[in-house]
Amino acid sequence: MKEGVNAVKLLDIWKIYPPNEAVLRGVNLEVSIGSFISIRGKSGVGKSTLLRIIGLLDEPTKGRVFLLGNDVSEMNDDEASKMRLNHIGFVFQFFNLIPSLTILENIELPMALAGVKGEIRKRRAMELLERFELSKLADKLPSQLSGGEQQRVAVLRALANKPDIILADEPTANLDEENSEILLDLFKEINREELVTIILTTVSVEEKLPTNHDYLLKNGKLYQMR
Ligand SMILES: Nc1ncnc2c1ncn2[C@@H]1O[C@H](COP(=O)(O)OP(=O)(O)O)[C@@H](O)[C@H]1O
Ligand SMILES: [Mg+2]
Repeated sequence: MKEGVNAVKLLDIWKIYPPNEAVLRGVNLEVSIGSFISIRGKSGVGKSTLLRIIGLLDEPTKGRVFLLGNDVSEMNDDEASKMRLNHIGFVFQFFNLIPSLTILENIELPMALAGVKGEIRKRRAMELLERFELSKLADKLPSQLSGGEQQRVAVLRALANKPDIILADEPTANLDEENSEILLDLFKEINREELVTIILTTVSVEEKLPTNHDYLLKNGKLYQMR
């Protein structure tokens, strides 16, 4: 990781879906390393589109993306995949655990994709579960867990490859208030202790978040609220 650079920097990002739906209309953002920010906005304003662009799952129509000081437009597909796998963790609205794999295997999966050997990845997955007091879930299947537990496991899976940045797209949307609070505490702990930069989206304008800064996405533009 380079010193003195932002985790994420966006310069005049536009996204126009064919034929002419301009969802993002010149988004600028600088997220410093180790910060925890939220992007709030109503359904359909382009939050997922923006996170997909930051996470290299989609390309902007126009504008430049920098991740950890690297200009994404200069990366080939292979470099972009490596950046995604080794530096970015994703958490989605619908937990997205693989139903046929145990909890331990689900957490091992990103490490397997990154080529980490069996014993090492098993140990790291177990360590993550122990550290966050979820080891009793190791051998269960996702369907045997509550929604709150599944989402906490999804966060540990996002942590598996020791990412610099976690992108969490409406992670609390399908959780009740109590489980939302537990999940937000988990993000805060990870942010503090592992210095992972976190960008989280939510449709709620009033939900209290343990973030350093909050932004509002509206009419294709991003406004800093705090
Ligand atoms: N792949 C796509 N093709 C065409 N339009 C899309 C695509 N993805 C999203 N959109 C449109 O872009 C707008 C923003 O979507 P999205 O980023 O999912 O918003 P949010 O996550 O804030 O609900 C919506 O009007 C949606 O229909
Ligand atoms: Mg969305």
